[in-house]
Amino acid sequence: MKKSVIILSIETSCDETSIALLRCNGTLKAPKFKILKNIISSQIKIHRPFGGVVPNLAKREHIKNLPKALRLLRISGVKLKRMVSLIAVTVGPGLEPALWTGINFAEALSQKLNKPLVGVSHMEGHLYSCFLPKTTVISKSQFLISKKSSKSKLPITNYQLPKIEFPAIALIVSGGHTILLHMTAISKWTKLGETLDDAAGEAFDKVARMLELPYPGGPEIQKLSAKGNPNAIKFPHPLLNPKSAKDKYNFSFSGLKTSALYYLRDLNPKPLTLNAKADVAASFQQAVIDVLVKKTIRAAEEFKVKTVLLCGGVSANKPLQETLRTTAYDLRTNFIVPDFQYNTDNAAMIGAAAYINILQKNKKRLKIEAQGNLNI
Ligand code: KG4
Ligand code: ZN
Repeated sequence: MKKSVIILSIETSCDETSIALLRCNGTLKAPKFKILKNIISSQIKIHRPFGGVVPNLAKREHIKNLPKALRLLRISGVKLKRMVSLIAVTVGPGLEPALWTGINFAEALSQKLNKPLVGVSHMEGHLYSCFLPKTTVISKSQFLISKKSSKSKLPITNYQLPKIEFPAIALIVSGGHTILLHMTAISKWTKLGETLDDAAGEAFDKVARMLELPYPGGPEIQKLSAKGNPNAIKFPHPLLNPKSAKDKYNFSFSGLKTSALYYLRDLNPKPLTLNAKADVAASFQQAVIDVLVKKTIRAAEEFKVKTVLLCGGVSANKPLQETLRTTAYDLRTNFIVPDFQYNTDNAAMIGAAAYINILQKNKKRLKIEAQGNLNI
């Protein structure tokens, strides 16, 4: 497809209301995206007093914020009817009341502008956020290996429009999911494993709550961890070396979370000092990173992949990025993580996924209805 397509995309699966406008071109082998606008309105402040996302409050805020976000697009000079070729909306997975707000809004807009509407999977959105511009790409061709010592130097970070080499392993880590994919092409993958209970982001949020940190907990744990010792407490590493082969690439974080709960319950003196809390945060974060990285690298070795992709909200975690980046480097695989603004929920990634979907002529289209448990 040579001509460029302009996609207006809408994301409301959880607590971010987002509308983006993307210019897309290129083929499935090398899709190219230019982000013209990516408007995100976060509801964190609204949900914070409740310690998590309240679905009906999210719905109310999306209903309020969607027209505001569209107005912002118009004010910035975007002529919707003339420019937009296609509208894309997240249909799942996510909170159904929140998903419906985006779907209803997208349907009305599609009728008003007389433009086709496509449904997009939120998890494919996260996956294809790795193809957005300003993504951090560390490519094999950049590897600088000193001739004198076998000790390798990490290449300089390079921001570019990524061209991803396959096969690849993708680790998608968000508030609701932890998924490991083996990809043989941009649109072909098998799911190697996923979490059997809590998602990685969910565990971060719950442990943060135990430490009396505000929602969302991931960034707070990361911040507090910087003051703590990651080796202070030996937390369990669930399913790191599972007895059953079927769990080789599955994850489980609920035992780790409970272990943090018991540890905090028995820790004295109370109230806990900042240092004591920081050690818990750092040791918990380290245990999550150990499991995520070891399993991803194990898969990268087994499938002899050329690239490791990291995406989803938890991919914003800098120590996770650094550990996976250096371990992938030791394996001599390319490493890709999206720019910070595309780690957590945003509509730009939904636009990218919509484009990659329409390039696949035979792919079954998703129903335009909220699918809370939609599988990748
Ligand atoms: O992808 P996302 O924005 O929403 C879902 O699709 O769930 O991910 C949100 C999750 C939350 O659990 C949040 O705590 C976590 O991503 N998160 C982080 C960081 N930033 C966001 N977890 C660890 N470290 C971070 N820096
Ligand atoms: Zn998400």
